[in-house]
Amino acid sequence: MRGRLIQGGSCKAKSVLLDGLKDHLRTIKRSGRIVFIGRGTSYNAALATRPILVELSGIPITMEVASDLLDRQGPIYREDTTVFVSQSGETADTLHALECALENGALCVGITNTVGSAIARNTHCGVHINAGAEIGVASTKAYTSQIVVMAMLALAIGGDAISNQARREAIIDGLFELPNIKVKEVLKLDQEIKDLPKLLIAEQSLLVFGRGYNYATALERALKVKEVALMHSEGILAGEMKHGPLALVDENLPIVVIATRDACFSKQQSVIQQLHACNGRLVVMCSKGDAASVSVCGSCRVIEVPQVEDYLQPVINVVPL
Ligand code: BG6
Repeated sequence: MRGRLIQGGSCKAKSVLLDGLKDHLRTIKRSGRIVFIGRGTSYNAALATRPILVELSGIPITMEVASDLLDRQGPIYREDTTVFVSQSGETADTLHALECALENGALCVGITNTVGSAIARNTHCGVHINAGAEIGVASTKAYTSQIVVMAMLALAIGGDAISNQARREAIIDGLFELPNIKVKEVLKLDQEIKDLPKLLIAEQSLLVFGRGYNYATALERALKVKEVALMHSEGILAGEMKHGPLALVDENLPIVVIATRDACFSKQQSVIQQLHACNGRLVVMCSKGDAASVSVCGSCRVIEVPQVEDYLQPVINVVPL
């Protein structure tokens, strides 16, 4: 965020400056649609920022898994802005989708962590996430930095409309507080979180329920449990619980429910009650101070995390998960 987020002051408004995009911002704002394309974690990061992008840009936003877009030969139009999200900047399907978008005349924006990568070189413009080299598979720093960059992108596209000024300023303040206050705070859960896997290590499967701002968090955590712990795990859209997942619930299957405070909180409370009624073995993630409101069962394990602006909560939640 350094050098990109402007804190404002007596005569300067809080704002965002993305140098790599400034010559193309007008075109992006005029595009008929913005299509985000990525795979795995990078796709999940884009999905996590969809609500803020939709609200601030006022432009139709679609999300595409690169391989699926290619399989379907999904249409890309000249009037589209396509945004290619990739940590490495070299993922094959994302690159093929970029070739299609270039052929079809769309504006191509790259969001990568790797300077000089194929996506950085072949897109018209873009933003580097500057997360440092990815060493392990867990990818948390790439995921959180991608979300931060796409939140700044939403702010840049949203421009300076008076109507959303208060909202924009709250998001900018929230971004400033993330690294040194909120993420530092959530890292203090270190020991508590280290104890949790001891309860899960012998299990075959782990479900992660999320919705709204945190559906992507559920998908991302399940992805990494598969890749890092080599254990079956699924991210479940909590609103779809009754249509399949509920049939799996018993006293043995561990389930993580993300129920931090946002517009979906009361719906998640009711999900917790229904899972409890089926004897679900629950670990609930909630906002600090909400343990009593989510722990219907008394026996369920609760992880309390600091609360931040709803759009930015996935950055906090993914760290302990
Ligand atoms: C997945 C990795 O297999 O590939 C993710 O687990 C990664 O962490 C994804 O994001 C796509 O790679 P990239 O480099 O395009 O982000």
